[in-house]
Amino acid sequence: MAAVELRKLCFRYAGSEKPALTDIDLTIEEGESILITGPSGCGKSTLVRVLMGLIPHSYPGELKGEAYVFGMDVKNTPVSRIATRCGIVFQNPDNQLFTFSVEDDVAFGPENLALPPDEIGRRVDEALRLVGIEHLRHSSPNNLSGGEQQKAAIASILSMKPSLLIFDEPTSMLDPSSSASLIQRIFELKRSLDETGGKTTVIIVEHRIDLLLKHLSRIVVVSEGRVILDGDPLRVLEDSFRKKIPINIPPLLQIYFRVKDKCGLKNPPATVKELVSMLGGPTSNG
Ligand SMILES: Nc1ncnc2c1ncn2[C@@H]1O[C@H](COP(=O)(O)OP(=O)(O)OP(=O)(O)O)[C@@H](O)[C@H]1O
Ligand SMILES: [Mg+2]
Repeated sequence: MAAVELRKLCFRYAGSEKPALTDIDLTIEEGESILITGPSGCGKSTLVRVLMGLIPHSYPGELKGEAYVFGMDVKNTPVSRIATRCGIVFQNPDNQLFTFSVEDDVAFGPENLALPPDEIGRRVDEALRLVGIEHLRHSSPNNLSGGEQQKAAIASILSMKPSLLIFDEPTSMLDPSSSASLIQRIFELKRSLDETGGKTTVIIVEHRIDLLLKHLSRIVVVSEGRVILDGDPLRVLEDSFRKKIPINIPPLLQIYFRVKDKCGLKNPPATVKELVSMLGGPTSNG
């Protein structure tokens, strides 16, 4: 069964004349790591709201077409049921943390599932360990740094043991080095969940393509509410470059795309030094 299946999906927010999503066809298999990108206002957050059932259940509007998440039809499945399989981390973790201790926030989801107390305790311990914040369990979320709050928000989702993890611009509140370590942490997390027999699907909306590229199975580019490119990450970036689609293609790749045919380059360079060497430049110093 696919993790996500959207067929001819259209959505228009109530009171808005223009549709936010138009004719979206998208299938995401279990275990994939997908980047959804595209210019501001193109519909990325709207798309992930559909996957959580927040559209249509919390946002009024007109939804047409079909949307299934693990076979559940989002139109007639309660958000609370979808939340047992899908967890979302929003760009502002503040919206997600609302109790007086990290531990209580992380326990909130499993408590709502009415799980036995010892199972809740195990889940909280495991989620805190996975994101590396056991030492913050008794802290108030208000006293944490942006990066720590982001980790607490991720732990509060992991305690529900979701099969689909969605991140909507998780690094937007973080400095460059915290952004890099958060992205690294997300995919380490996926690997460790997969090692314990799971098949976790990751969907991430993010502008920092450079940090993500090596982790992705696919890139989906959305423009004005439509999927305009979908496929192998490098191919999608090259198509975006040639079609001048305004997404954040790493500069090194832009140079590679420009010269690869003329200079007979077969693979993208990982560093500027490697590119210089591929182009026959000096390699010895520095
Ligand atoms: N709650 C809402 N009510 C009405 N219109 C909305 C609402 N949320 C978003 N929109 C509109 O829907 C369209 C898509 O917005 P959306 O937030 O999904 O874009 P986005 O790609 O996530 O943008 P960004 O990169 O800035 O986060 C935009 O035209 C936006 O103004
Ligand atoms: Mg958005």
